[in-house]
Amino acid sequence: MNMPIKSPDRRHIVRLPAGERFQLRYVRPDDRAKLEEMFARASPQDMRFRLLGAVRGFAAHMAERFAHLDPGAEAAIVATSLPGEEPEEIYGVVHIAQDAPESDSAEYDVMVRSDFKAHGLGYRLMTEILQCARRRGLKAVTGYISPDNSRMLVMAQELGFVARRGEDNLVEVRLDFDDLDRRVEDELSAG
Ligand SMILES: CC(C)(COP(=O)(O)OP(=O)(O)OC[C@H]1O[C@@H](n2cnc3c(N)ncnc32)[C@H](O)[C@@H]1OP(=O)(O)O)[C@@H](O)C(=O)NCCC(=O)NCCS
Repeated sequence: MNMPIKSPDRRHIVRLPAGERFQLRYVRPDDRAKLEEMFARASPQDMRFRLLGAVRGFAAHMAERFAHLDPGAEAAIVATSLPGEEPEEIYGVVHIAQDAPESDSAEYDVMVRSDFKAHGLGYRLMTEILQCARRRGLKAVTGYISPDNSRMLVMAQELGFVARRGEDNLVEVRLDFDDLDRRVEDELSAG
């Protein structure tokens, strides 16, 4: 059985390639307003990429959802401005939810503030949630990507996800940790 996805009070500071620094920490219920502010800044295209369809009231709905996660089955990490920089702002959020109770795989979703894309934050958040998934004993992480979301498709490939055409014309990506470790070992041995 998996360890439950609990949310201990863990945080650390990360530095992106161009030097910007952020605090990464688990989402808290009192993040609702800050999350809504972040989602409200999403461009229509980013909203579509994230939701895979248009949804009215996206920002409030997503903020409410993330502020009240099921701690037994979900985890979410936010990238915020540094401690002491007031008011605190959220620049990105990444989330995993177990596919079903007792499942050993989880589906991810990720979103970076539309005005802060292509700084490496999405990639950093993804590596963080994959480590989190491993720590919690999950065997695989999956996701669904719109076929025209080239940034996410490239990023998923770079992270080791394997892609296949899924339902509804979406690309289904899957990262099986044992399989990834084997591939990395093989590449290192071959090199
Ligand atoms: C998809 C999304 C999360 C990516 O976040 P981002 O911060 O813009 O992306 P990054 O800057 O981390 O990565 C961008 C690039 O660098 C690469 N990259 C970044 N850091 C890297 C690293 N350390 N090593 C290797 N590659 C890296 C990525 O593959 C990508 O390539 P590109 O810009 O040449 O296309 C963001 O664009 C977003 O929120 N989109 C809307 C929502 C969405 O599409 N979610 C995905 C479906 S749930």
